[in-house]
Amino acid sequence: MTQLGRLDGRVVLVSGALRGIGRAIAECLAAEGATTILTDLDAEDTAEVANALETIAGAHYIRLDATQEEQWKAAAEHVEADFGRLDVLVNNVGADLTGKVQDLELEAWHRLMSLNLDSVFLGTKYFFALLEKAGKLTPYGSSIINISSIMGIVGLGEVSAYNASKGAVRLFTKSNALEFAENGTPIRVNSVHPGFVETPLLHKGMEKWAARAGTTAQALIDAMAEGTPVKRLAQPVEIGKVVAFLACDDSSYMTGSEVVVDGGWTAR
Ligand SMILES: NC(=O)c1ccc[n+]([C@@H]2O[C@H](COP(=O)([O-])OP(=O)(O)OC[C@H]3O[C@@H](n4cnc5c(N)ncnc54)[C@H](O)[C@@H]3O)[C@@H](O)[C@H]2O)c1
Repeated sequence: MTQLGRLDGRVVLVSGALRGIGRAIAECLAAEGATTILTDLDAEDTAEVANALETIAGAHYIRLDATQEEQWKAAAEHVEADFGRLDVLVNNVGADLTGKVQDLELEAWHRLMSLNLDSVFLGTKYFFALLEKAGKLTPYGSSIINISSIMGIVGLGEVSAYNASKGAVRLFTKSNALEFAENGTPIRVNSVHPGFVETPLLHKGMEKWAARAGTTAQALIDAMAEGTPVKRLAQPVEIGKVVAFLACDDSSYMTGSEVVVDGGWTAR
C-alpha cells in the first residue's frame, strides 16, 4: 500500500472495523499515518481483536455496538480522554436485508434501520464536538465519511429496506454537509457508494438470497461480476483507498459529495 503520510498526526475512528470494508478502511487510514481507533462488536480480549491490533500499526480498539446510544456517548468520552481529538469519523457499519416487501417483518426492518441509519446519526451526534474541535486545528477541517452503497442511489427489486436505509444515509450526508458549511463548522461530510465488494456481508447475503431463489450463492456472485462493466467484484482495499482520499486534505474542497466506487455499475 502506498504510504504518503497524508494523515500524520490525525486521529480517526471506524465503526465495524474488524472485518470486510471497515477493516480495509482502517488499514488504509493507518497506512497514511493516522492513529486509528477500530470499533466493533467483539470483546476486547478476543484473538480477532489482538490480530487486528498486531496487523494495523498504531491501532486501538474500543468495543462499540453502533446501534446503542449510550455506547457512542461513552466512546466519545473515551476518545476525548485518551486522544483529545477526532479528525475523521468513518460510519461504516451496516448489514443487508432482502426479500419481497410483503414478507418483510417490521422487527427486521427496524433492526436494519437501527444498524444502517441510527448508527450514522449517533456517530455524527456524539463525535460532533470532537470533530469540530479538531477541524479548527487543521487548514481544511475534519471529515466524516458515511458508507452508503450504489443501493443508496438506484433501486433494486427485493432490496427495498436496504435501498431505503442507504438512500437515507446519502441525504443525511448532504444535509449535514450543508448545515456545517453554512454554519462555518469545519467538518466536511461525504458519502461513499460501493458496488459489489467481496466481504463476509456479501457472501452471507447471497447465501440467503440463493436459498430463496433455488440457486447457489456462487452462481449469484458470478452473475454479479458478469453484470458489472469491469467484470469483477471490488476488493475491500479499493474502497479503503477512496476513503483515505476523502479523509485527508487532498479532498479539501469536497463536501456533500457522493463518491461512487462500483466498477461502472451505475454508469449505464
Ligand atoms: N459488501 C458489499 O458489497 C457492500 C456494498 C456496498 C455497501 N456496503 C456497505 O459497506 C459497509 C460494510 O460492509 P461489509 O460488506 O464490510 O460488511 P461485513 O458484514 O463484512 O462487516 C461488517 C462489520 O461490522 C461489524 N458490525 C456488525 N454489527 C455491528 C454493530 N451493531 N456495531 C458495531 N459493529 C458491527 C461486524 O462485526 C463486521 O466486522 C456496510 O455499511 C455495507 O452496507 C457493502
